[in-house]
Amino acid sequence: MREGHPSLTASIVAAARGVGDPPADPLAAELLPDVAAPWVRAASHAPPPLLSFLSFGLTDHMALRTRAIDEALREAAFSLKGELPQLVVLGAGLDARAHRLRDLANTVVFEVDHPGTQSYKRARIGARMPTAREVRYVGVDFERMNLGDKLAEAGHDDAKHTFWIWEGVTPYLHMPAIRATLETIGQRSSPGSRAAITYGTPDMTRLGRHLAPLVGIAALQAFRILGEPLYGLIAPRQLHAELDMVAYRVLRDDGVRDWARRFDNPRGRRLMVDERLVVAERR
Ligand SMILES: C[S@@+](CC[C@H](N)C(=O)[O-])C[C@H]1O[C@@H](n2cnc3c(N)ncnc32)[C@H](O)[C@@H]1O
Repeated sequence: MREGHPSLTASIVAAARGVGDPPADPLAAELLPDVAAPWVRAASHAPPPLLSFLSFGLTDHMALRTRAIDEALREAAFSLKGELPQLVVLGAGLDARAHRLRDLANTVVFEVDHPGTQSYKRARIGARMPTAREVRYVGVDFERMNLGDKLAEAGHDDAKHTFWIWEGVTPYLHMPAIRATLETIGQRSSPGSRAAITYGTPDMTRLGRHLAPLVGIAALQAFRILGEPLYGLIAPRQLHAELDMVAYRVLRDDGVRDWARRFDNPRGRRLMVDERLVVAERR
């Protein structure tokens, strides 16, 4: 992250959610920087296969990821008989769930993000009414600050159920910051709380196994140039062990091609990047 600047990757993934007819996130275009919003609105009328091709699959990837996490959120609310008092969105970026999901009418949403990204997001959201009961903003740098203290100060109640979303953030963090955040999730979750966490594995690209050095170096360089280098790629078995250490039991762990099959998106089955989503429950 570049100090004092909003995350560029947050805008890129929001732009990918904002194209399509209908878009995966109808609010996304409104939250983008002024220079990008008209392009995204214009691109919405282009054929989805063309959008997917031009974005290297990102539009399909984001639509599938959004659906997979929304589905996990609804399943968690269902398991709690519709009573989901708290949602914490970690590294929220331009996530608009608090403003688009009617299921959150009784839920307090804590949007946690790097202060640079969060001040930009708050300015864009402005006075828009949330669909959630309430939204509270918590500025935290996962690498340097104590997430638990900040959540407690914001009124997060560790005795009530929480659903945690950590979407598209772990690859940008070093392992100690990932571990510290997981510890906070474990400590501030009452039993039955759930977490949906996306992550990248060391062999997350299709070509990775064959051209690992070349693809790896190119991808790492691209993110470095954006000012948001990747550090936190993690194997499923390791992440499951880390979750177990914070008293979370894995309910399911699947990847973008599994979501593509589930949501009947044939293009999604051919995506190059196989990001994963683990859904786990506090014991
Ligand atoms: C690719 S964006 C994902 C945003 C959002 N979750 C989504 O999926 O649209 C990465 C997010 O991680 C946040 N982030 C990166 N490093 C961080 C750090 N050290 N502390 C807090 N947030 C961080 C950025 O501010 C950004 O919002």
